[in-house]
Amino acid sequence: MKTADLKHDSAIKHVTGQSVYVNDITANRQLVGRVVYSPEAHARISLLDIKAASKLNGVVAILTHKDIPGINQMGPVIHDELCLAIDEVTFIGQAIVLIAAETEEAAFKAEKLIRIEFEELDTILDLHEAIAENSLIAPPRLIECGNVDETLLSAPHVISGELESGAQEHWYLETQSALAIPGEGKEMLIHASSQNPAETQAIVAEVLGIAKNEVDVEVRRMGGAFGGKETQGNHVAAWAALLANATRRPVGIHLFRDDDQKITGKRHRFLSKYQIGFNDEGKIIVYSVELNSDAGAATDLSRAILERAMLHAENSYFIPNVRIVGNAFRTNLPSNTAFRGFGGPQGMVVIETAVDKIARFLKKDPAEIRKLNFYGISQKNITPYGETIVNNHLHLMYDQLLASSGYKERRLQIAIFNTEHEFVKRGISLTPVKFGISFTTAFLNQAGALVNIYNDGTVAVNHGGTEMGQGLHTKMLGIAADELGVSPELIKISPTNTSKVPNTSATAASSGSDLNGMAVKNAIDKLKSRLTEVALDELKSKLKTDSILAVQIVFADNSVFAVSHPDTKIPFGELVKLAYLKQISLSATGFYKTPGIYFDRELGRGNPFYYYAYGMAVSEVEVDVLTGESKLLRTDILHDVGDSLNPEIDLGQIEGGFIQGVGWVTTEEIKWDKKGHLLTHSPDTYKIPTVNDIPLHFNVELLSGYPNEGTIRKSKAVGEPPLMLAFSVWLAIKDAVSAVENHEFEPAFSLPATAEVVLKSIEEIKKMRLGVRS
Ligand code: MTE
Ligand code: HPA
Ligand code: MOS
Repeated sequence: MKTADLKHDSAIKHVTGQSVYVNDITANRQLVGRVVYSPEAHARISLLDIKAASKLNGVVAILTHKDIPGINQMGPVIHDELCLAIDEVTFIGQAIVLIAAETEEAAFKAEKLIRIEFEELDTILDLHEAIAENSLIAPPRLIECGNVDETLLSAPHVISGELESGAQEHWYLETQSALAIPGEGKEMLIHASSQNPAETQAIVAEVLGIAKNEVDVEVRRMGGAFGGKETQGNHVAAWAALLANATRRPVGIHLFRDDDQKITGKRHRFLSKYQIGFNDEGKIIVYSVELNSDAGAATDLSRAILERAMLHAENSYFIPNVRIVGNAFRTNLPSNTAFRGFGGPQGMVVIETAVDKIARFLKKDPAEIRKLNFYGISQKNITPYGETIVNNHLHLMYDQLLASSGYKERRLQIAIFNTEHEFVKRGISLTPVKFGISFTTAFLNQAGALVNIYNDGTVAVNHGGTEMGQGLHTKMLGIAADELGVSPELIKISPTNTSKVPNTSATAASSGSDLNGMAVKNAIDKLKSRLTEVALDELKSKLKTDSILAVQIVFADNSVFAVSHPDTKIPFGELVKLAYLKQISLSATGFYKTPGIYFDRELGRGNPFYYYAYGMAVSEVEVDVLTGESKLLRTDILHDVGDSLNPEIDLGQIEGGFIQGVGWVTTEEIKWDKKGHLLTHSPDTYKIPTVNDIPLHFNVELLSGYPNEGTIRKSKAVGEPPLMLAFSVWLAIKDAVSAVENHEFEPAFSLPATAEVVLKSIEEIKKMRLGVRS
């Protein structure tokens, strides 16, 4: 079997219930941890009384900020996020008190007995208001090239607009969870659901006031993360650790779904303003955009997310004059955080809507306007931040997808369908994705691995990446098996653990397999060079020759041999035993850092990305003109993953990412009331896609024949880019809406395009028609 065909290592375990999550692990004398959080968006705490609750039977500890032995902080990059509130709360969901109890019931009862009184303060709960109040959470950012102001004045046509894109709830199936187990002395073991075990370790060490070498963080797997556990998995870990430290007993915290939705951050909503200038043909000559994001109450990753939004503002299009301004604003909502795409979607959707408007203005096919503006192959290939795009696959993918999806014929058929149907309208759209791969914070592009070969011939691979369903461990297993030339059954990927591989970056930015794959290979290369020496000695004596060279040694088929003498094989297990007897170390660490990337934030210039991943989608939808409901009829996707490490897993990532994006652009609407209470905090009000939302005709293909030189097995990252293919659905809905009045008017449109938004939009263009008539 080819290792590229390996099945996801958890597939069977998931469906049989054998997969172990944090909440499945129990420890002797374990307590239930509970977080008491603020019901106020911004208020002074005038009274906090835990006396009655402390006396309750079954309550073991109740902690406030005064009981934190270390630093009262859990902000990941900037320390602006309290672990427990002191005398003021700045969002609903902010932790104030921690309870450890023998039972869940006791914890609930204790919570009811805790008295907290508040004096309400002014709030900012709306992005418009935040912009008006200029509540910047970080200095504004700028990326600029060419001459924007002059070109805007001289451009033949200029369209300006505003676009709001909504927040998005991660809806990982496993809510935020942690189990903290105190050890001897100051030791603390955390079973975490975290994309970033090294940072969880750092935050736990800080709140406890102990050194990192006292804290072990272990991540077996997450039941989904999607960016929501890049930093915010740290919070529950810190709370559980505080309780475990205070009680010296194991404490588990597993958030209820509603609590999780209320207290954790989401995808940043954006309000963006743009001007785009173009010529009669549809060539874009100037683009000026201001991206404004809602950071929430603390910084979290908002700066990096805004940066990625800015670095994706032009998507796949070459534009000679560009100005991208980025602002992140503070509001009284839970701190928003990483979410698949990491700002990329919010930046890209603005230019996608702008390009769509250009096409409507010129009465041309939007797909043709897109193609016209694609980055060039050997010229017109420099981004606004100065990175030169090499190996641009946009043009060939466009041609391939246009043909395979039958785009042109279907556009004609849809036009006919729409003339024949008054109450249902269809729309179609093609949209491209160009997504930069690498952490834009250059130093984060590093990874480590530890590979142990045991003297029974089995192998344990540990790497710094975490498994969240994306299949990283399966890909690492395939790489290790191929590199060692042994069957995957002999290899085990052990849980991610900070004591095995230290100082790792989050598994994020889609670069888990790029970085860790290389680190695993690096460790195995070291082991192979040691084993090669042993094999050489052995083969030379067996074959009675001195003429075998190290370069001729091959590791394959569970054995080791010289290419010149393929019939004399040493079984891998035997070679390992020999090495052990010869006192050769069978354990090695591996390391990798991405070469040649940098970004100067002040100048807004650099080469932040090692390469780009490309994708393209054509989607067709049907809109019910009377209800505003839309149905996705068909989607064709062509996606570039280089030489796939595992085609089945990559297809799963593309399908899943796309559908998650469809949720963001259609039904996933987050609403708060005027006081800042989240109204959509459960699955009955927050609508993620279900199996019914998957298009009946869903054709997903991997671009073949374009290996990505310079990465592990010439592959490309796949985790995030497909999410943005969902813009094809959003713009297909807009196309169907505008068909209601024969494409003569530009419908106002926002994101998500819920049935309500669609219906309003239809009403509006109908009024425009009446306005024209009167
Ligand atoms: N796929 C699954 N099943 N579950 C997840 O939580 N997270 C996504 C993506 N795919 C996620 C997923 C996000 S946000 C990222 S950054 C990547 O996986 C991270 O993993 P990778 O770098 O190994 O691709
Ligand atoms: N992506 C995801 N996470 C990150 C990044 C990024 O570019 N930079 C810092 N954390
Ligand atoms: Mo992904 S948003 O980079 O965790």
